[in-house]
Amino acid sequence: YIESLDEPLLKGRHIIVSAGGTKERLDPVRFLTNDSSGKMGTAIANAAAGAGATVTLVTTKQLPVVPGVTVKPVTSAQSMADAIMIEFEEADAVVMAAAVADYRAPTISDHKLKKVDANSGLTLTLVQNPDILATLGQKKTHQLVIGFAAETNDLLANAQVKLTKKKADMIVANAVDATHGFNADTDAVTLLRPNQPPVTLPEMPKQQVAVALIKQLATMLPKQKG
Ligand code: CTP
Ligand code: CA
Repeated sequence: YIESLDEPLLKGRHIIVSAGGTKERLDPVRFLTNDSSGKMGTAIANAAAGAGATVTLVTTKQLPVVPGVTVKPVTSAQSMADAIMIEFEEADAVVMAAAVADYRAPTISDHKLKKVDANSGLTLTLVQNPDILATLGQKKTHQLVIGFAAETNDLLANAQVKLTKKKADMIVANAVDATHGFNADTDAVTLLRPNQPPVTLPEMPKQQVAVALIKQLATMLPKQKG
């Protein structure tokens, strides 16, 4: 398959990529998070920069990046949303590869929460985080908005619902099982677009998935003026 990009397909473009699992703080020493490694999003950012784009990588995980990628470290879903919105207006595309936590604590305790007496359990009350991808889908004018769907079951049906509900231009559907997704180094993905038949890519290293996605994205961008 395609090993590298030598033609500058994304020259003059600004691409925002999010990566990693968000960290939702409960108190000064505790947080809720997930297993997302940040590998896929970082690979996409690097592939986009390799294709000549100016890239902003909004990430919870600091992994090596190539020249052309500016890293904006974030923690919570809200901080990720804020960092993306700052640059959204002038961006050409946003790729939401991050595993954004669906919920957070309504308030962050300023002191370490104490264990309650006796053997009683603890019930955490959580509130929903903003849906960044759906917000971008609502607010987009010229931008392409691309999301991921990692699913353990009914992969394509669930991914199709996300494509429509979030008004995304593409959803990268990704089966999560013992050997795929999250911490793995390879992925087998299916690309879903509105009114297009799904395209399933063969299983390959995340770096190559990233290059294939960037090539696809480049074909979807409106022609540059001038
Ligand atoms: N996403 C987002 N903001 C959120 C939750 C998800 O931007 N608060 C994005 C993810 O980055 C991903 C896409 O939406 O690109 C799908 O995420 P996923 O967790 O699969 O979808 P949800 O809508 O959260 O649905 P569920 O977790 O119930 O499957
Ligand atoms: Ca979710």
